[in-house]
Amino acid sequence: MTEAPRLTVVLPTYNEAANIPNVVERIIAALADVPHEIIVVDDSSPDGTAATARAIAARQRSVRCIKRVGRHGLSSACVEGMMAASAPIVAIMDADGQHDEAILPRMLEAIDNGNDMAIATRYAQDGAVADGFSKTRAWGSRIATAMSRYMLGRDVSDPMSGYFMLKRDLADRIAPEVSRDGFKILFDILSRVGTSISVAEIPFSFRPRDHGESKLGALVAVQFLGLLLSRLSGGILPIQFVLFSLVGALGLVVHLTTLYVLNVANNVPFVTSQIAATLVAMTTNFLLNNVFTYSAQRLKGWRLLAGLIGFYAVCSIGALANVGVAAWLFAYSAQPLLAGFAGAVMSAVFNYAVSKAAIWRDG
Ligand code: GDD
Ligand code: MN
Repeated sequence: MTEAPRLTVVLPTYNEAANIPNVVERIIAALADVPHEIIVVDDSSPDGTAATARAIAARQRSVRCIKRVGRHGLSSACVEGMMAASAPIVAIMDADGQHDEAILPRMLEAIDNGNDMAIATRYAQDGAVADGFSKTRAWGSRIATAMSRYMLGRDVSDPMSGYFMLKRDLADRIAPEVSRDGFKILFDILSRVGTSISVAEIPFSFRPRDHGESKLGALVAVQFLGLLLSRLSGGILPIQFVLFSLVGALGLVVHLTTLYVLNVANNVPFVTSQIAATLVAMTTNFLLNNVFTYSAQRLKGWRLLAGLIGFYAVCSIGALANVGVAAWLFAYSAQPLLAGFAGAVMSAVFNYAVSKAAIWRDG
């Protein structure tokens, strides 16, 4: 093909070596009449997806692969793919066969007809999920969809869809803002552009995966909660801070439970129980933050142990800051709850900022 591409299809991949050849072949067939290019964005998948994609690219000029090193995550992969696009219109889709490529021309037509974006929807007209979902997943998907629709304040039937098309101008505009750590990039985009763009919805049937398994697990669900709360704060609170605070709130529960078990139920002396509860809570907080809040910078092996010790140190200084601020405010205001709350906020911000800079560093 010598014609300049009209459409760039971005395929984010993680362990899709078994799927990518079929998916690419089907997209090419579906776009027989449309000059296009396909960009696979792979995060150095252990199953060798990048090598498979490169082998296809060696035969097929319209295909290329961006292999990322030291960077992870679906949203950031999508952004990177969109930014590498040479066509004026960009589509994002799963690389596992779940997204019906046959509707690509119809999505493109919707954009040609003046829409800024076309979303492939599972929840409108004859859209569907063809037995691809477990009960919990179907339930979770419905709730998340209802919540996000409410938040977006516009009637988009499937704001969580991973299959959509948009003008590259729009992608350029929102790329600097979109959260890099997340799974739900469409929702993120919609929550930023509000009602300023026109959106067309094209129904499709969400198929079961060809091979392999979904990467959408508890981590993604928790991160989505972080994204929702972050957007609710108007973007003032970053997702990581929201998650860090949620983990902190859970830590309080862990702390009090441990204290109860040791001191109340088993008569361990109070101070010993309090010290043990503090250590247990700090340790669980550290591990939860390592998995959920800082999944992209997750520590392993010896670095995990070093990180834990560092975290104890950060929290201890945070506790001092907490008491310092609270005592100061209490002296001025004589409001114990207000002073206590300010102290807690102070240590949360401190622990977050310092542990992000010193323990879970980027890259
Ligand atoms: N590069 C990269 N990095 N790709 C990733 C990563 C990552 O960290 N995680 C997942 N992917 C790729 C997968 O290989 C797949 O091609 C695509 O992103 C979607 O991941 P799946 O694991 O197939 O997600 P899903 O099918 O459970 O979820 C889909 O449906 C959701 C709606 O229910 C996705 O399209 C979601 O975006 C969508 O919200
Ligand atoms: Mn999928």
